[in-house]
Amino acid sequence: MAVTQRIGVVGLGAMGSGIAQVAIEAGFDVVGREVADDLARAATERIGHFLTRKVEKGQRSPEERDAALARLSTTTDLGTLGDCDLVIEAVVEELEPKRALFSELEAICRADAVLATNTSALSVTEIAAATRSPERVVGMHFFNPAPLMPLVEVVRAELSSDEAVETALEVVERLGKVPVSCHDTPGFVVNRVLIPLLNDCVRVLDEARVTPESLDAAMTNGAGWPMGPCTLVDLVGIDVHVHASEALYEKLREPRMAPPPRLVAMRNAGLLGRKTGRGFYSYE
Ligand code: 3HC
Repeated sequence: MAVTQRIGVVGLGAMGSGIAQVAIEAGFDVVGREVADDLARAATERIGHFLTRKVEKGQRSPEERDAALARLSTTTDLGTLGDCDLVIEAVVEELEPKRALFSELEAICRADAVLATNTSALSVTEIAAATRSPERVVGMHFFNPAPLMPLVEVVRAELSSDEAVETALEVVERLGKVPVSCHDTPGFVVNRVLIPLLNDCVRVLDEARVTPESLDAAMTNGAGWPMGPCTLVDLVGIDVHVHASEALYEKLREPRMAPPPRLVAMRNAGLLGRKTGRGFYSYE
């Protein structure tokens, strides 16, 4: 098994930039791909900001921050990822764009490179089936915010090879994260449980006639959650959560998986949470 040193990250939004940050901090060389220069610049600035906060708080030296940032390069050209040992995809959470991307990556990347998707709720097997080498495709599912959440689910699709799964597990260990290995089932482990739970939380808002503030207070103080469900859905993104709910409902047909109408209405109105400045709460 070749030693992984160079990681490509495709899509530098909240998840992709977080993954890139974790990887450069762990000593990997990272090439991040965005579709436009300004998006790549924004991601680099975001990563620089969080690393500088660590310096300000005495968790990193300025030299360590600078060395980590020097390991990050960005590109708008997917072809630049040709020499990566591992590519992690974190683009829009829709099946067809992901399948098209994997088909392109297969043509660009070395035959021994592992191709991973950070999908939340889509089938890794269906993404892998867009390639002629599905054995090298796995899921590496990070949690939001990626630099703070320890878990990474390493997902074995129907045709994933042992080598590809082992490479992903080894990289997760080197990232200092906690790997949990699982098979490619809808929602894997955490979202299979968390998505219907969060949907129940949203339904109880109307059923028990409580405010988002009260619900959050109930779940943090009564169930020990680190952040309340409304704060969490705002963080994850209402659109991302609705999409994951729809994907799970489509596969499992369990009523609790279906997105509550209240969330669908918020998504349709553009109240997407922190990223648009308004969701259950307003953000300056
Ligand atoms: N990226 C990088 N660094 C970040 C960050 C981010 N997005 N957000 C915060 N930080 C850094 C900041 O520098 C911050 O320090 P600063 O405020 O002094 O600058 C530092 O991390 C600590 O941040 P917080 O004070 O906010 O950290 P907390 O100790 O309050 O913990 C938390 C935050 C870890 C997010 C905690 O509230 C928590 O565990 N929440 C639950 C999150 C969760 O459940 N996530 C899973 C969502 S589901 C999912 O992702 C699945 C997907 O498929 C939908």
